[in-house]
Amino acid sequence: MKKKILVLGSTGKTGRRVAERLKNNPDVELRLGSRSEEIPFDWENPQTWSKILNGIDSVYITFQPDLAVPFAADAIENFSRLATESGVEKMVLLSGRGEKEAQVCEEIVKKNAKNWTIVRASWFNQNFSESFFLDPILHGIVALPRAEALEPFTDADDIADVVTKVLLDDNHNGKTYELTGPRLLTFKDCVNEIALASGRNITFQPLSLEDYKQMLRDYQVPEDHIWLVNYLFEEVLDGRNASVTHDIEKVLARKAREFTAYAEETAQTGIWNPENKDHEIS
Ligand SMILES: NC(=O)c1ccc[n+]([C@@H]2O[C@H](COP(=O)([O-])OP(=O)(O)OC[C@H]3O[C@@H](n4cnc5c(N)ncnc54)[C@H](OP(=O)(O)O)[C@@H]3O)[C@@H](O)[C@H]2O)c1
Repeated sequence: MKKKILVLGSTGKTGRRVAERLKNNPDVELRLGSRSEEIPFDWENPQTWSKILNGIDSVYITFQPDLAVPFAADAIENFSRLATESGVEKMVLLSGRGEKEAQVCEEIVKKNAKNWTIVRASWFNQNFSESFFLDPILHGIVALPRAEALEPFTDADDIADVVTKVLLDDNHNGKTYELTGPRLLTFKDCVNEIALASGRNITFQPLSLEDYKQMLRDYQVPEDHIWLVNYLFEEVLDGRNASVTHDIEKVLARKAREFTAYAEETAQTGIWNPENKDHEIS
């Protein structure tokens, strides 16, 4: 019998990639979790939850906007309880490395799920090409705080490979994996690699966190997003994550993707070419 798998955030950075990997698997019946699907899924509307869970065996959970926000724990508690009541046998949770609030959510999933795997990831490479760092890259100037912080940026394709594997293989039940890339980089290192790969002039400008928040306010970024940005820069980039792990290699029996390879391949897509207007950001 086919395994019925629900992928939440199926249009997002990791969910889209997991869905791509599962969609042609003859042993899998895939259900996409997005606000724009025929059966919609919305974290902010719990009335959408039971219908999408109907008949599902396994769920890949990506929470929006981040497991660190104050309402995440309640949502994860209610969703994971409902999922088990609906017959879900396994949950794979995407979590954030070094975020203690995310670890509260991990414990909730571990308590409520029949079987679980936790996939804790460091910052994604794709933040520079599919998310909030894309705009500054296109403008040719990236101004960020924590210029000195070292982060082992990890690739969304590696995360998706790990998530797909653990969804399909019960040997990974009950395990927590910490995924990082193979190398520690500063933001400036990343920007320099992207400039080199795309053949563009891109300046990195260090900022204080206060100045950065003021800049976001000047751009009329909503306060709840600024709260999250403050949290991520102040807490998560304080040095606690400045180490690499080998869990990608452990699960996939191959090395994690290098930032340089990510930058070179992404440059080929044209996404960092300011003349290409139709960029999709999630
Ligand atoms: N970015 C990082 O560096 C990083 C690092 C570690 C962990 N994480 C964690 O990764 C998770 C996000 O995963 P991701 O990056 O794969 O996804 P993502 O790219 O942030 O996902 C965006 C997708 O989430 C969906 N979405 C937005 N609001 C929603 C809502 N109210 N209800 C349901 N779906 C909603 C959207 O789908 P629709 O518009 O189609 O509904 C959108 O396509 C977060 O919990 C974050 O903490 C991120």
